Amino acid sequence: MLPFQLSLSLESFRQHPGAKSILRRLSDIGDIFSNTAEVQLLADANPLIYEFVDLREGLAGSMMSFGLTVIQPGTVGGEYAMTRGHFHAVRQDGDEVYLGVSGTGLLLMQSRQGESREMELNPGAVVYTPLAWAHRTVNIGREPLAFFSIWPSATAYDYEEITRRGGFPRRAMEQNGRLALVSNPGFHI
Ligand SMILES: [Fe+2]
Repeated sequence: MLPFQLSLSLESFRQHPGAKSILRRLSDIGDIFSNTAEVQLLADANPLIYEFVDLREGLAGSMMSFGLTVIQPGTVGGEYAMTRGHFHAVRQDGDEVYLGVSGTGLLLMQSRQGESREMELNPGAVVYTPLAWAHRTVNIGREPLAFFSIWPSATAYDYEEITRRGGFPRRAMEQNGRLALVSNPGFHI
């Protein structure tokens, strides 16, 4: 493997050898939003929610993996566009570092014990998520939210535990044009 350099843009990441662009449309992640009626209404339009450019294949054999994610602006039934969110599988090194690139974002986090934390993910913000904390990113602004993340290559994702818990302890809702973090009544550990 040789040293290489990228720019913090989708174009730069997409062009890297082995890059895989993963598109998540509403049909892929509609189940994470609380307003099921609105999810059905938007089914035909099936909007793009986010794109994640994963460089893992191009980094085969390397210790670190990283990617760039862009979440589109807007809400689904008043809930801001977001990623599915995951835990990193237990018994593996799996801390992760996030860097805000552009837009206005929020990281929703929950511990194995069900504690909740939320942190801003704006340009230049760096957030460290320890192994035991699940993480979901949310675009709470009016332009695309871009962020960079880096994690150990051995990390495995656990999405099922988030589904089993009914999501995250709090939901990022738009109320009167502003962010409101509301308790998620469907959440349980
Ligand atoms: Fe992660």
